[in-house]
Amino acid sequence: MTDRVQAPFGARAARVTAAERHGAYTVLRCADPDGPRPAAGQFYMLRAAERWGGGADERPYLPRAFSVLRAAADTDELHFLIEDVGPGTARLCELGPGDGLMLVGPLGIGFAPPREGRRPLLAGGGVGIAPLAIWQDQLGEARVLLGFRDAAHAPGAELLSGAAVATDDGSVGHHGLVTELLAAELDEDPAAEVYACGPPPMLEAVRALCAEREVPAQLALESGMACGYGACFGCVVATTDGYIRLCVDGPVIDAARLPTALTPGAGH
Ligand SMILES: Cc1cc2nc3c(=O)[nH]c(=O)nc-3n(C[C@H](O)[C@H](O)[C@H](O)COP(=O)(O)OP(=O)(O)OC[C@H]3O[C@@H](n4cnc5c(N)ncnc54)[C@H](O)[C@@H]3O)c2cc1C
Ligand code: FES
Repeated sequence: MTDRVQAPFGARAARVTAAERHGAYTVLRCADPDGPRPAAGQFYMLRAAERWGGGADERPYLPRAFSVLRAAADTDELHFLIEDVGPGTARLCELGPGDGLMLVGPLGIGFAPPREGRRPLLAGGGVGIAPLAIWQDQLGEARVLLGFRDAAHAPGAELLSGAAVATDDGSVGHHGLVTELLAAELDEDPAAEVYACGPPPMLEAVRALCAEREVPAQLALESGMACGYGACFGCVVATTDGYIRLCVDGPVIDAARLPTALTPGAGH
């Protein structure tokens, strides 16, 4: 098992230091001098310090969950990768240098090192590439396979090094699914441990093809999260050994514990 880095109690204020565009994605950087350095695969609950809850129907009200994209050991900066899919992500994408960001974290349990004799093989889909960037930073070297919808999203691949890219529409790299690249890699050399994050259908395909080949896999899942620290039970998912709260017992789960990676409430 990997270590859990414990979050300080309560929400704390951080200051945005930069907001960069990478195609359809925004990378939001902030200074977090009062928080511990996160482990790869952990996440934070974020909300803007101002104008949060002021949209249509006063949405968004609750903070939103984001994997840590990057956290260099020699700075107090945290990086997050955000795709604008609704009122919370839209507001976070508006933030710029000097703006306030309220955060709770690091939360959850991240990735564990590969089992002996196995090379790490990272597979990401869409905004799910985020936890794989910090994991690649920490591993030093790892083969990376990334899948995106189209050329507008493919610039996300710049955030990891040496990635092989697939796009659904064939506009960049392999024309097809990232799981096709993964299957080909595993057929060539199955002595791997797969680390994956992406939309539920992609994670379910990763789970199934790793199970067929008896390849261990660690999946960073999503589910609807209201609190992020175990209080609301909104993030429950089924495992072979019972229900778990994804925010405290995950979000990284060993694929062998999952009857399916199609988690309820994870709609995109
Ligand atoms: C552990 C974890 C890590 C995450 N990391 C990232 C990240 O690095 N970058 C990023 O952009 N997003 C990430 N997400 C997803 C992000 O939290 C949601 O996209 C966000 O809450 C949407 O808020 P909104 O107000 O913009 O849109 P909403 O209106 O709340 O949602 C827009 C659409 O997204 C769906 N949705 C909302 N929340 C989730 C969720 N948790 N999982 C799946 N679908 C959801 C809704 O069903 C709806 O279709 C993560 C989620 C979790 C649980
Ligand atoms: S998000 Fe509240 S218990 Fe997991």
